[in-house]
Amino acid sequence: MPTVLILGANAGIGRALATEFASHRYDLILAGRDHEELVILAADLGLRYKVSVRAMPVDLGNFESLEAALKECFKAGGDSLEGFVLCAGHMGNPGAAKKDLREARRILEINFTGSALALEVAANHFEQKGRGFICALSSVAGDRGRQSNYLYGAAKGGLTTYLQGLRNRLYHPGVNVITVKPGFVDTRMVFGKGKLPLVASPDKAARDIYRAVTKQRDVVYVPWFWRFIMFIIRAIPESIFKRLRM
Ligand SMILES: NC(=O)c1ccc[n+]([C@@H]2O[C@H](COP(=O)([O-])OP(=O)(O)OC[C@H]3O[C@@H](n4cnc5c(N)ncnc54)[C@H](OP(=O)(O)O)[C@@H]3O)[C@@H](O)[C@H]2O)c1
Repeated sequence: MPTVLILGANAGIGRALATEFASHRYDLILAGRDHEELVILAADLGLRYKVSVRAMPVDLGNFESLEAALKECFKAGGDSLEGFVLCAGHMGNPGAAKKDLREARRILEINFTGSALALEVAANHFEQKGRGFICALSSVAGDRGRQSNYLYGAAKGGLTTYLQGLRNRLYHPGVNVITVKPGFVDTRMVFGKGKLPLVASPDKAARDIYRAVTKQRDVVYVPWFWRFIMFIIRAIPESIFKRLRM
């Protein structure tokens, strides 16, 4: 059976995606910081879907251990490892980040530096293999900077550009790179942000991401209509956009 490695699988979209892949009979390696939770999820998915699921520790914010930890995951996946999905991300506290550079740094490091470094390790692995896919969750927030979350948006915008280059690098080696740009998804990331419009469930997001992977898409908005919303938002002239409270 094919195996997929999901980083950030213990919660939110990553957790729903693990269930989606398991329901399509993929073996799984679930990676993340909350090892205890991942072990429980692995046992549950293994029992429910009769697939092999392992839990492995990876901390995207620990640059010293990141490469070795991911290499352990790729080794555990062996020849059946078909793909890597990066679901980890950190919204943080944009208000606090204005006064606390440590929080600002955390937002930038998890969403860009740590993410790009993890993807580099995955790229080298699959490039050598000559097949497979790499899928990463960026965000619509990366399409245009807004005052309410511009550090997060800048990091995701950088990640989107990074993924463009990676897709170009891995095209000829035969590795598909999928950029996912979710709009609002009902996970703890948006908890406490008041009533948001057009919020999708993590299950719906997971179904869309699974389809994008199996159909070998390049860039997908989740749900699809965010492509049009962001087209309009990007088209607003900067002289007007800078006056908006967004
Ligand atoms: N929800 C939305 O509206 C939305 C919109 C656009 C994009 N996204 C993106 O979608 C992805 C999934 O987000 P979500 O909504 O599912 O949020 P979530 O429920 O908060 O899940 C975030 C995941 O990232 C993991 N993570 C955070 N820091 C980590 C680190 N240092 N090392 C390893 N894992 C780490 C978390 O693990 P811990 O439990 O250990 O913290 C958790 O598994 C993120 O990249 C997010 O930016 C979400």
